[in-house]
Amino acid sequence: MKLLHLDSSVLGPHSVSRQVSAAIVDRLRKTHPGIEVSYRDLTTTPLAHLSGSHLAASQGAAPDASLQPDIAAGQQVLEEFLAADIVVLGAPMYNFTIPSQLKAWIDRILVAGKTFKYSAAGVEGLAGNKRVIVAISRGGFYGAGTAAAVGEHVETYLRWVFAFIGINNPEFISADGVQAGPDHREKAVAGALKAASGLAA
Ligand SMILES: Cc1cc2nc3c(=O)[nH]c(=O)nc-3n(C[C@H](O)[C@H](O)[C@H](O)COP(=O)(O)O)c2cc1C
Repeated sequence: MKLLHLDSSVLGPHSVSRQVSAAIVDRLRKTHPGIEVSYRDLTTTPLAHLSGSHLAASQGAAPDASLQPDIAAGQQVLEEFLAADIVVLGAPMYNFTIPSQLKAWIDRILVAGKTFKYSAAGVEGLAGNKRVIVAISRGGFYGAGTAAAVGEHVETYLRWVFAFIGINNPEFISADGVQAGPDHREKAVAGALKAASGLAA
């Protein structure tokens, strides 16, 4: 069994989502002895933003030599994703949504013919055989019924993205209100770590 662990926080050792994603992976190492874990830090080895040249190359145009390393990096992250049985993703909220480094990764894994296809019935996800667990950390509170709920574009966005490629039941562990004061932060992190340590196998 293969687990792909990804982080996208730019806050390094101060990151909450990194702490929680690591705890999720620790838990899964215990519940799945022998699991093969690979790790990708999307901030230390960022993927380039998509360009017209990338899209042309994906449609079969001969790419410029300067684009080759990045095309290869994109293929590598797609293959890593396709090979994984479990994906654990650290996803902080920056300006109401995911970090641009994580968006660049999503742009490389949503690939027609690989993770989804268009058919007479509409879009069909092709990656539904994976378990996806996301560690979210947010400075504020965006729960259902709050005034801020409409500004939440991390969990809502990722649910949509994963459903698009056939993963209809991603799991989320969230630390909320980490900027609402030290007490809130401590409580939110402890709650998320507890949820991680109790994750189902
Ligand atoms: C650049 C930046 C933008 C942020 N934007 C938001 C925001 O829009 N809403 C929010 O609730 N918190 C925001 N925060 C707070 C983070 O969500 C919070 O610090 C969280 O812990 C970040 O995850 P990380 O610690 O894993 O990086 C922002 C933090 C940073 C550094």
